[in-house]
Amino acid sequence: MSRKVLIAGNWKMNGLLEDGAALAKEVATEVKKLGKPECEFLVCPPFTLLTTVKKVLRGSKVALGAQDCHVAEKGAHTGDISPVMLKDCGCSYVIVGHSERRADHKESNELICRKAEAAHQAGLKAIICIGETEAERDAGKTIEVCTKQIMGSVPQNATAANTVIAYEPVWAIGTGKTPTTADVEEVHAAVRKVLAKKLGKGNANKMRILYGGSMKPANAAALLALPDVDGGLIGGASLKAADFMAIAASVNKK
Ligand code: PGA
Repeated sequence: MSRKVLIAGNWKMNGLLEDGAALAKEVATEVKKLGKPECEFLVCPPFTLLTTVKKVLRGSKVALGAQDCHVAEKGAHTGDISPVMLKDCGCSYVIVGHSERRADHKESNELICRKAEAAHQAGLKAIICIGETEAERDAGKTIEVCTKQIMGSVPQNATAANTVIAYEPVWAIGTGKTPTTADVEEVHAAVRKVLAKKLGKGNANKMRILYGGSMKPANAAALLALPDVDGGLIGGASLKAADFMAIAASVNKK
């Protein structure tokens, strides 16, 4: 089953106009040098940088995504951004249910599911994040937690064309710690099984499952070589074009 590897940068709440534009330009220039890249590239800057980065990325093979969206198309939701607005400023992807949003904004599986549905309706692909906390892992509950998150936050009619899953162990995000490759493969394989149960085998086999959490040039080759790992959602290392590109370059170094 061939799934195109997705190398996605989650810039989080980083970057002012000038550095955002410079980073996007560096990434676009490096991706251009690859000619026909084997993987798909995506950057997800903060909302304030979307239009600027879109201009920089014009004509490049780097897609644009946002880091969150509201469930409604428009209306009285002060401070929120709708998926239609994201589509309007050139996004093709949106991350939903990142653990930082689940924690900081008390987002539930049900809300995340509605966000993913709203994204789909606006013509965006949703990257739905799941992952266990350290306490949950220590209690042996990783698969149970991820299963619950998938069952609750992936829309019933999600397809491989409009949805990507990102497995991000919360304790690995921004900490420099990563699970062993055996642990990552175990979770990814289990995630695919749950997806098959929920969405059918065909969709599950085609759906990309990214790994996220302290992915960097030094560990990317081993992680990306795992059979059920179809790319990376990269935080810290996506803020340096050289590191982001080094991760992408490790895709085929199996
Ligand atoms: P990290 O973040 O690569 O900095 O650990 C990944 C993420 O949270 O998406």
